[in-house]
Amino acid sequence: MFKEAHRKLYQWYQENGRHDLPWRQNSDAYRIWVSEIMLQQTQVKTVLERFYFPFLEKFPTLQALAEAHEDEVLKQWEGLGYYTRARNLHKTAQICRDALPQSVTELVALPGIGQSTAHAVAAFAYHTPVPIMDANVKRILYRVFGVKKANDRELWQLAYRLFDEERPFDYNQAMMDIGAMLCQAKQAACDRCPFNDICKATEDGPLLYPEKRAKKQVPVRLKHIVIHKHDGRYALRQRQTRFLNGLWGFMEHDEVQEAQHIGEIKHQYSHFHLHAKVYFSASMVEEEAAWYTKEEIEKLALSGADHKAFALLQESGL
Ligand code: ADE
Repeated sequence: MFKEAHRKLYQWYQENGRHDLPWRQNSDAYRIWVSEIMLQQTQVKTVLERFYFPFLEKFPTLQALAEAHEDEVLKQWEGLGYYTRARNLHKTAQICRDALPQSVTELVALPGIGQSTAHAVAAFAYHTPVPIMDANVKRILYRVFGVKKANDRELWQLAYRLFDEERPFDYNQAMMDIGAMLCQAKQAACDRCPFNDICKATEDGPLLYPEKRAKKQVPVRLKHIVIHKHDGRYALRQRQTRFLNGLWGFMEHDEVQEAQHIGEIKHQYSHFHLHAKVYFSASMVEEEAAWYTKEEIEKLALSGADHKAFALLQESGL
């Protein structure tokens, strides 16, 4: 049905696609899976320039990842955010050990692998005929089919309608490139788009699809971070909470006494913005804390906010 559109898609992809992305030049399921997990919530540029290669150097195989300690995996993930991804990556490696399964059903049963990621691994590593559906692809579907609102079930139906099962690898990679390069959220280069002839959104304007939802106000949380230092060592704790589980940080108190205010930091998380006052204290803490030197702290996986707080302390010269 979309034969001509597919032909144009591949021609566009051949001439303009990002063929040099390392995960497109390799059919190793492990490497593809790592890339897909990193790319779930992080831009291609960041993954490519700062995280993908160091991670693979540290954990070159699924087995190497399975044998690592969770702390090492978190340290390697430090700065990428959404740390549940790292913990699930590690869990999945420990479940599979030698090799990732090939089937979508088995892949999707593993921690951290949703339907689209399972399809991406299956399509890119094994050429399984299944479409992917990340945010970029969803936007293209809304526009091509002229749909302003849809739930995931409906979007999957559209994904299968437009899909080309003869070339799952090229089709899916090309769709992501169209979404990233032509059919963007805030601008659309319809004149260069291979779907121009079939796209239902071109008439009244692609930017009207999908319908914009009112932006949720992100709440601000206020905190006091106290960096205790004693005998050249700093007090830290490893979080055992759902949020930022496994990451290290300095002490946090509701009220602060006998501490020197050294500044403020801000840090954005997906569901809240953190505003924290940072203090220095030369006293020992009452709570359970582990005491580490600066050099030791550099080897721990610290949360982004704690990094900022520690940088403030270094600048203060205390
Ligand atoms: N985002 C998720 N998977 C991707 C891929 N294979 N290429 C580019 N961007 C992506």
